[in-house]
Amino acid sequence: MASNWQPTNQELPARAAVATYAQYRRKAISDQFRGERVVIPAGTLKVRSNDCDYRFRPHSAFAHLTGLGLDHEPDAVLILEPIEDGKGDDGSHHTATLYFRPLAGRDTEQFYSDPRSGEFWIGARPTLAELEARLGLATAHIDQLETAITKNVGSADLGGTPIRLVRKVDDTIDAVVGTARRNAAKDSEEPDLAIHDALDEKLSEALSELRLLKDTWEIEQMKLAVAATVEGFEEAVKALPRALTHPRGERVVEGAFFARAREAGNELGYDTIAAAGENATVLHWIRNTGRIDAGDLLLLDAGVEADSLYTADITRTLPASGIFGPVQRKVYEAVLDAADAGFAAARPGTRFRDIHTAATTVLAERLAEWGLLPVSVEEAISPEGQQHRRWMPHGTSHHLGLDVHDCSRARLELYLDGILTEGMVFTIEPGLYFKEQDLGIPAEYRGIGVRIEDDILMTAEGPVNLSAALPRTADGVEDWMARISKGNA
Ligand code: GLY
Ligand code: MN
Repeated sequence: MASNWQPTNQELPARAAVATYAQYRRKAISDQFRGERVVIPAGTLKVRSNDCDYRFRPHSAFAHLTGLGLDHEPDAVLILEPIEDGKGDDGSHHTATLYFRPLAGRDTEQFYSDPRSGEFWIGARPTLAELEARLGLATAHIDQLETAITKNVGSADLGGTPIRLVRKVDDTIDAVVGTARRNAAKDSEEPDLAIHDALDEKLSEALSELRLLKDTWEIEQMKLAVAATVEGFEEAVKALPRALTHPRGERVVEGAFFARAREAGNELGYDTIAAAGENATVLHWIRNTGRIDAGDLLLLDAGVEADSLYTADITRTLPASGIFGPVQRKVYEAVLDAADAGFAAARPGTRFRDIHTAATTVLAERLAEWGLLPVSVEEAISPEGQQHRRWMPHGTSHHLGLDVHDCSRARLELYLDGILTEGMVFTIEPGLYFKEQDLGIPAEYRGIGVRIEDDILMTAEGPVNLSAALPRTADGVEDWMARISKGNA
């Protein structure tokens, strides 16, 4: 069995463009955690049922610091090992090593009989030398991982190495680090669990905050993800005629988008929301089991995740018939005005939360004009008021990147209270949601849900709408749908 195979290709891949960026990212973490061992697991395969796993997606912090995307690399762990200050590559205070399970030769048991990692089952995976060449990063066999994590763990005062871990990504690594810390505590008066919690919490926070500003490579990836998402929206519109005749028309739309996501990128960045009529008033309607009727608005909130794992997050609300009804158009244009106000408020140097204030002020004004708001606009937009939240209960913006809700562990003062800065990528996504059962509004509004969501890159000159290729105005949406349906005919 083990003989007479053509030799494996020994040629090493070129260094990937992301390698240099990932090195800068690691250096930023190294600067914050001098003298400490930093442990960042990729995560494990998750069982779907019996011997079938879900597709693997590494933890975003691991992807960010290694540059690995797609399905790399279950069970791998990146370790930043402290060294004498400034002695590492490019003056960093750590050496970085990626521990993973390399490709096993055809003479091994793994090759034939391991359905999770054997080449016969899942295809070839990289060798240590290949990933080292591609990522510009030292690599080591996963067999050496436990020693690398546990050696000399302890407080620096006693000559040990303090350790920080991204927790709840890999249970095995959590256990190994937990044991190492407990063993260290036996020999000394090591601090208690609450202090370990705080150490690990601070690491997650730092990794999240590192992603608040995207580098040039990341911005390119965001543009790729957005471009594929725009194509996915076009596919969804092409599928509308069939969707209108199908008992689960929302699924027809979801499927059309998904096909493009898999063809152009890795996956979806989050489950698609394809919500028609009343379902559009359910903020995270991902069941997508509903019909689409010609008089409905269809709210489509979807994003393609590129192979690098960066995702877009775009919403358009489309008239299923191709033409907005008068009340639908009125609501749509109010939401568009709110989005434009958010866009106008987004300038380098202003606060992230100013976008929400600007957008919701416009919504409160429209709701007042229509006689729906039970109080004045001033009262509604005051912190104690917020009556308009009955119809717009979510935030207007979130950071976007490797995660759809990126940077979620960042401190408030850097996120909601943070200053908009060149290199940030975030959404602007106001909406209005009038439920069928809402007896506080005239019947003509009920069953209308509208959200318009764009992906914004902040530059020194101001915000750039990365998703501008998808029409936003009511007329623009109608024209675009008409063009696509002509091409369909
Ligand atoms: N697109 C889904 C969300 O932002 O929550
Ligand atoms: Mn969003």
